[in-house]
Amino acid sequence: MKHKASPKDVERLVDEDGFLVSKTDVKGIIKYANRSFIKISGFTEGELLGANHNIVRHRDMPRSVFALLWERLNDKQEIFAYVKNMCKDGAFYWVLANVTPSLDTKGNVVGYYSVRRRPRRDAIEKVTRLYRSLLAEEGKHAKRKEAVQKGRALLNQVLHEEGVSYDKFILSI
Ligand SMILES: Cc1cc2nc3c(=O)[nH]c(=O)nc-3n(C[C@H](O)[C@H](O)[C@H](O)COP(=O)(O)O)c2cc1C
Repeated sequence: MKHKASPKDVERLVDEDGFLVSKTDVKGIIKYANRSFIKISGFTEGELLGANHNIVRHRDMPRSVFALLWERLNDKQEIFAYVKNMCKDGAFYWVLANVTPSLDTKGNVVGYYSVRRRPRRDAIEKVTRLYRSLLAEEGKHAKRKEAVQKGRALLNQVLHEEGVSYDKFILSI
């Protein structure tokens, strides 16, 4: 199920001491969401379970960031990422997410797990500027694949200029 609300300029804040948790299968279909995640999303548990995780996707999020997320997960690596999500009514909320693959005893990926916290305001401002420039770059390319590639290239360029890895960058802002 995809929700049809238009994004609106209303921000919801994750509780300062709250953790938003969700689990998915290997395809990113939601299998579990904790109370805090359900509450802020505005969806019911029934609407979330079985839905693709992009049900909370906000259009202000660059494609290249999710491409990086899936690249990491496919490599059995974790990732930290700032994510702007959309609530059912079109409002938004920011999180700093840690997404990890869950492995069985043989090392096979059996699903994914995400824990999210409320980011600092100054970090949100910095990330908003970065994401705007990635979105603008992606927007210049009609083909999805090319948009992702160019977005990734710009992200790498920014990291190169800052002289840091993606993880260092994310955890330092
Ligand atoms: C465990 C896990 C948690 C995720 N959490 C989010 C999330 O909170 N918001 C989001 O937009 N995408 C999240 N994603 C990524 C989505 O699966 C999807 O790649 C993204 O929304 C982009 O969707 P699109 O390719 O349809 O544009 C998550 C993926 C996994 C595996």
